[in-house]
Amino acid sequence: MPEFVVPDADPMDELRRWLSEAAEAGVSNPAAMVLATVGPGGAPSARAVMVNTRTPDALTFFSHYESPKGRDIAANPIVDGVFLWTPLERQIRVSGAVAKVSADESDAYWASRPRTGQLAIASTPQSSLVADHASLTARKAAFETQIGDGEIPRPETYGGYRLTPASIEFWQGRPEDRLHLRAVYRRESDGRWSFGFVAP
Ligand SMILES: Cc1cc2nc3c(=O)[nH]c(=O)nc-3n(C[C@H](O)[C@H](O)[C@H](O)COP(=O)(O)O)c2cc1C
Repeated sequence: MPEFVVPDADPMDELRRWLSEAAEAGVSNPAAMVLATVGPGGAPSARAVMVNTRTPDALTFFSHYESPKGRDIAANPIVDGVFLWTPLERQIRVSGAVAKVSADESDAYWASRPRTGQLAIASTPQSSLVADHASLTARKAAFETQIGDGEIPRPETYGGYRLTPASIEFWQGRPEDRLHLRAVYRRESDGRWSFGFVAP
């Protein structure tokens, strides 16, 4: 079994270590995090987003600000994120508040994206009902014709969010005795992380 987390470590260092170990183990999309939001009516909603591993000091992801998740976050920035790496019998849960990153940071990320992805994002309204899939292809093609070879500007309604963890839980399966390891780090009011084990 890989080494478990260290009580006095920075949990973000541990999270980065687990992310790299998942990548090294060949887990597909190791940076995919299931993000749960809660809408104004109290209903939860969950979907995967990719955490940008190029900003290793933070949990940043990019999305449409006016999508259902964007509207949830605008009403209630408290979210829960889950990484699940079943080949390693590992899970990480992150709870905290999200906030939009700066326009400069979103622009830099946008500029790093492949053009075809930029076209898809800029030409289609995420999660809006459409007549059929062909209408999206047509919309993308029409937008491409309109923009020509020019630079594709980042839509103002697309950008990054940063999740600031208030707690991070590491879960390591122990098939040998089913006493799985669970360690929880919590951010205390003085900024320090507390640490404790919880029963599986
Ligand atoms: C592996 C994976 C990664 C994804 N990454 C993103 C992402 O980084 N940003 C995003 O907006 N949607 C991403 N999606 C799509 C979302 O899961 C979701 O379908 C979309 O964001 C609409 O969600 P909403 O209607 O709840 O706002 C990803 C889906 C998968 C399966």
